[in-house]
Amino acid sequence: MDSMPRSAGIIEKVSFSFEGRTLEGIAGEPVARALFRAGVRTLSYSMKYHYPRGIRCGRGRCRQCDMEINGCPGVPSCITPLEAGMVIRREDFRPFYAPLVSSLMRKLTLPAGFYYRFFTKPKFINKTFSSNLRKMTGIGRLHTDSPPFIARSSGPGSAVIHSLSNSYDVIVVGGGVAGLSAALAAASFGSGARILLVEETAELGGLALFDPRDREGRAEKDRLRLAVEAKKSITVVCRAVGLGYYPPDTLLVQSSESCPSRPGILKRIRAKAFVFATGAYDSLPLFENNHLPGIFGPRAVRLFLERDGYPLGDTAVIYGTGRPLEDTAAFLESRGVRTAAVVEAGSGTRLTAAGGRWWVQHVTFKSRNSGKTGPKVSCDFLCLAFPGQGTYELPQQAGFQFRFSDDASFEAKRLLPIEPERRIEAGSACFLAGEITGETDRRRLVEQGREAGGKAAAEAAGSS
Ligand code: FES
Repeated sequence: MDSMPRSAGIIEKVSFSFEGRTLEGIAGEPVARALFRAGVRTLSYSMKYHYPRGIRCGRGRCRQCDMEINGCPGVPSCITPLEAGMVIRREDFRPFYAPLVSSLMRKLTLPAGFYYRFFTKPKFINKTFSSNLRKMTGIGRLHTDSPPFIARSSGPGSAVIHSLSNSYDVIVVGGGVAGLSAALAAASFGSGARILLVEETAELGGLALFDPRDREGRAEKDRLRLAVEAKKSITVVCRAVGLGYYPPDTLLVQSSESCPSRPGILKRIRAKAFVFATGAYDSLPLFENNHLPGIFGPRAVRLFLERDGYPLGDTAVIYGTGRPLEDTAAFLESRGVRTAAVVEAGSGTRLTAAGGRWWVQHVTFKSRNSGKTGPKVSCDFLCLAFPGQGTYELPQQAGFQFRFSDDASFEAKRLLPIEPERRIEAGSACFLAGEITGETDRRRLVEQGREAGGKAAAEAAGSS
């Protein structure tokens, strides 16, 4: 099931180097995808026990795909476009300690913070221990002999951030359907309001999960996107992250260009009101070997199959609850992926383990009632389709409080906001909209955005 990336135009084949081998890929496709097609599944290793790590989120968040690219360590290969002549390697390529040491390490149970407790004296032993431990973690080496790649004014993302104003009436963080709807509502409130829409990815529209057969939903998403792009009072900045909220009224925005030669830059921007439509990310439940590559949440599966066209495989197992489970099953069916099992997490069956050496190859379920373990179910990948965890970090900095949901299934529990709006003393008014509130229905997401955008604009107008 290999297909071209959705956004591919003219296909230009390029060569690149991977750990001494010359491989071919398509210019502009994610580096991780080019490696995947060449059979490279392991992109990094875990720090402590050196378990293999591969693509997982597809959006530059989990950092399990971090690699050294053109001498730059810690580059997320899932969102870095491939260029001709790139030199790519895993961050602990040719380690001195060999796989044997890694497998021995896995047999030891090392307590948290063991490096503060063992080999601390005498000094020379501690020095040798610490420096070798550092090398074994495999988290990149900065090549001081390479030409410096930090060029703060280079790259389109940096230029856009530079040119932003220092203050706006309303800032909307998140360009999904709720954020788009909020920006439009704010822009339609009275006249002269200046709105800034900050979106983390390269495209507006977001990652909320909809039934792929919901044509009306797709049309609505496109309509909102086009309407926002046409509004002169809305400034849109993509590939930018709201990195920190500083009360009473300041957002720290970072451009997030993924190329090593285009690092992010920071800018402080003020607003009278904020709408946080920060969306949600895939949350993965606990079970044995849940760290194996080949295990994805529903957003990642969509990105990998729909946006990037990864050949993930022909057969999937889906484990999850409610709408995410139904929508993901419908999505995989629409992409021609066979499902070996679709299991509802709150039912009498529980996912207990995944197996495979470098990539998931099978999963095991257990009956809750009898406690019996069923036969292994073979698959090419496993999708865990649970409601996403709202991206709460930024709203939390603005003072929003969260509590655990009371979902029936333990695996589906997530943090939800207690209140959808708050006013900061002598500062901005802040509102929440979209998946951050725990909402998953497409129509409600749009409505919530509209309400929050209108209120934010009203607050901004009232405070002028
Ligand atoms: S950051 Fe690349 S897969 Fe998560």
